[in-house]
Amino acid sequence: MSQQEDQLKKVISHAKEYGFIFPSSEIYDGLSATYDYGQNGAALKRNIKDYWWKAMVQLNENIVGIDAAIFMHPTTWKASGHMDAFNDPMIDNKDSKKRYRADVLVEDYAAKIEGKIEKEVAKAEKRFGADFDKEMYLKTNPRVVRYQEEIDAALTRLNTSLTNNDLADVKQLIEDLGIADPVSGSKNWTEVRQFNLMFGTKLGSTADNATDLYLRPETAQGIFVNFLNVQRSGRMKIPFGIAQIGKAFRNEIVARQFIFRMREFEQMEMQYFVAPGTEMEFYEQWKEQRMKWHLNLGLGEDNYRFHDHEKLAHYANAAADIEFKFPFGFKELEGIHSRTDFDLSQHQEHSGKKLQYFDAERQERYVPYVVETSIGLDRMFLAVFSNALKEEQLEDGSERTVLKLPPALAPNKAAILPLVKKDGLPALAQKIIDDLKFDFDVEYDEKDSIGKRYRRHDAIGTPFCITVDHDSLDDDSITIRERDTMEQRRVKISEIKGIMEKEVSMTALLKKL
Ligand code: GAP
Repeated sequence: MSQQEDQLKKVISHAKEYGFIFPSSEIYDGLSATYDYGQNGAALKRNIKDYWWKAMVQLNENIVGIDAAIFMHPTTWKASGHMDAFNDPMIDNKDSKKRYRADVLVEDYAAKIEGKIEKEVAKAEKRFGADFDKEMYLKTNPRVVRYQEEIDAALTRLNTSLTNNDLADVKQLIEDLGIADPVSGSKNWTEVRQFNLMFGTKLGSTADNATDLYLRPETAQGIFVNFLNVQRSGRMKIPFGIAQIGKAFRNEIVARQFIFRMREFEQMEMQYFVAPGTEMEFYEQWKEQRMKWHLNLGLGEDNYRFHDHEKLAHYANAAADIEFKFPFGFKELEGIHSRTDFDLSQHQEHSGKKLQYFDAERQERYVPYVVETSIGLDRMFLAVFSNALKEEQLEDGSERTVLKLPPALAPNKAAILPLVKKDGLPALAQKIIDDLKFDFDVEYDEKDSIGKRYRRHDAIGTPFCITVDHDSLDDDSITIRERDTMEQRRVKISEIKGIMEKEVSMTALLKKL
């Protein structure tokens, strides 16, 4: 098993063991690529949502939030282009009977070569030490240059074939690159076909009057169709944004890598409506803003990179991904897209209703342009969770598993632990909880030795363990033990709330933005 696979396995089993994520309907052997969030997972997910929502809606006077229905009028999807073009190219292996996304097979091939480049770089870094110039090395080392050329050639051809809908060439490319089925090793492939990713369902009680509906494949369209409702009822002036968090559904051909690619997932999207001609300025601004939001969590600057799209969707005039270093390498976490006036114009045309804005400053009426930021909540969860999971060797030779979550996102901000279950310590612990629980998620825990309780709370990422001992009864003080450093400090009970506000609260995290 590769180190990457090993790390992902650890993430999956830790998530299950500690109540973060369970396979969906597990008692019936689960449903592929569908997951349920457990008690700790739901709390972590809600905190990520809060961080996004507050950063978007609460901190920006000109951004408001909505909650649109998952079902939408079917013409929405005709207008948005999803009915005709929301497809993935799929290919089957005739021997293993396994189905793949043809473009992902080629991308995985490229990623493998990129892995080789990373290995060469790591070797050279060791060899040259402080003198190592990575940029120069990437440009001049003949082997690395050859690898890069192989990657570029494969991806460029893939892009061209997909743009031209030349599916025969996609198959030819897979054959030319000698790509084998990752499971069986067979190279016996079918033709490549397009597969629409929308889930269909029916509205209506009888077959005769039933209407075809779709589960929304993105939340963005709920924002576009409400553009005028929000603009008028909120008297919004351009530039302004509409934010939304909600479920989206895609019948992914291959859903894999745990919660990275799911068929039912959640998106956090914001559409920023701007005057035509100003979109590039706002596109750059949002790229910067969104990266700042990520970096503020402290998961490490090296774990992020931008990937600017060269091949643009027909409606976009600029697009970039924020990629994160997941256990299986750098992959898309968030997209920032300059979508022009495509969506509003399409809805205007298909609905026959004007979706325009009168700009008092410019004294003109126009269909606004849109810059969109779109991030998968589950993907963000995986980024945070996988980055946080650490196994540490301690000074006394023992090991601990600790989830070093950004404190404001942790399911519980503190565990309140009476040293023993008697002598009035539980009652004092409960009193502390009663004081904190209106502002913070805190948990009472009296079972097992104090050492075992520390380990348990390390494993679910609780930033503070607050121990109530016999001295607490006399000196009104408790011991706070910090998750990451394991250092302990004695503080007055009256100081706890202030310390928590400063060190583990959402407000403190937002203030750093
Ligand atoms: N409205 C634009 C849009 O939906 P997208 O790149 O298709 O763009 C945006 O999706 C984000 O949604 C992605 O960056 C990713 O984080 C998340 N996402 C997309 N498909 C997903 C899936 N099958 N499972 C989990 N997250 C997904």
